[in-house]
Amino acid sequence: MKKTALVVALAALGIGATQAADPAKINWAKVPAVTVTLFYPGQSSYEWLRSDAHKGASKEVKRGDSCTSCHDEEDAEKDLGEKLVKGGPLEPRPVKGKSGFKELKVQAAYDSKNAYLRFQWKTDNAFPGSEHQYLRFDGHEWKVFGFPKLDKPVQDGSEMGIYEDRMSVMIDDGKVPGFAQQGCWLTCHDGERDMPKQFTKDEAAANPLLQAIKKNDVRKYLPETRSDPSDWKTGKSVAEVEKIKAAGGFLDLIQWRAHRSNPVGMADDGYVLEFRLSDGGKDMFSGNADPKTHQPKYMWDAAKVGYKSITVDKLHQADHFLIREKNAVPFDPNAGWKEGDMVPDYVVSRADASGSAADNNAIASWKDGVWTVVMVRPLALTNADDKALKPGGVYNVGFAIHDDNITTRGHHVSFVRTLGLGAKGKADIKAVKLP
Ligand code: HEC
Repeated sequence: MKKTALVVALAALGIGATQAADPAKINWAKVPAVTVTLFYPGQSSYEWLRSDAHKGASKEVKRGDSCTSCHDEEDAEKDLGEKLVKGGPLEPRPVKGKSGFKELKVQAAYDSKNAYLRFQWKTDNAFPGSEHQYLRFDGHEWKVFGFPKLDKPVQDGSEMGIYEDRMSVMIDDGKVPGFAQQGCWLTCHDGERDMPKQFTKDEAAANPLLQAIKKNDVRKYLPETRSDPSDWKTGKSVAEVEKIKAAGGFLDLIQWRAHRSNPVGMADDGYVLEFRLSDGGKDMFSGNADPKTHQPKYMWDAAKVGYKSITVDKLHQADHFLIREKNAVPFDPNAGWKEGDMVPDYVVSRADASGSAADNNAIASWKDGVWTVVMVRPLALTNADDKALKPGGVYNVGFAIHDDNITTRGHHVSFVRTLGLGAKGKADIKAVKLP
């Protein structure tokens, strides 16, 4: 073994370096908790906030005032969320029975290796949202089964609502103009999926920036990447976007996913700039549908789990994760498939995750209606698509929870907060230095 390889191997084992804390053993009772109220934002896009419909606030928002300079009443978030979730101009497709707000308990700690972010919240359902979409055999072919609750077929009752729970954090180190004041709303635009004036396939196909980055829909983006910040179609050139990225003008986006990252003890690692992108390398999840045959690529290993597929009546009765290196085998098209057989639409793998996309670990549990998630984020990352967290640093953060089988804007979100790692100045959430 070469010397450098040995040093790397020892470092991975924590030998020769200060030991990182075992996140399962941190005494969280000693770490102060901050409660952040997250609310249902409906379609309150960047564009809506700057329009006359945002009563008497368009000028101030355009000028860059913070949301909380006006929305500062005690129950501001709760009141906004409870109003918006019921439907109206900002919510054309209300989800029946959805809660308007979520109380998120946040705790933070760090040592010489990692930052540890602990989150707790109550789920609307009496089960953890760890199921995700399936591939279902209809007697002839395999089709996606289960959709997020904002989708029309779920709303009209023709499809079942199935989508994983998520806990997301956006991080800015002060280099994204406006994030400290207006947070996640900088990324939320008309034209995106489930937003007003949603892109059409033709519009996406005709867009030079989307063509250049090989995307066919519109997702979160930062205003700076457009020549008109309110028009997704006016993308700057890839070279200009690269310049913004090199100067740090992007947001880190960490998403803990109850189905697609949790089974392998991870949270994904992405960033928002001209699109919502995954970091370099490979995510811990991949689609399980073969694009050519439309058949699954993997099924469960019956020798290990006792079944090769499930049926709809088995949902929520156990964990239904398909983990490549643990309980999956290549799909056998001749295994006697019957109508109604289902295998997960995604396969998860820690072994296949790599590079910058594989930076974040997590541990989580769901008990008595409450998720507890601890994200483990290495300090001082040097990847071009990461925000490096460092002792002494203060960061602007936004939180989001996707609860009860939903995606896109169907989340609860926070106004921006600050997270300090042993910083002298003040921060809303102060990370405690672990012994
Ligand atoms: C200059 C003051 C001001 C600023 C700054 C401001 N707002 Fe508002 N906002 C208002 C007022 C006034 C209303 C209408 C009364 C209400 O519902 O609270 C409103 C309403 C809203 C609504 C609810 C709309 C509805 O249908 O009831 C949302 C959502 C909202 N604001 C979000 C934001 C966000 C996000 C920001 C920061 C990007 C922000 N506001 C900044 C004053 C402001």
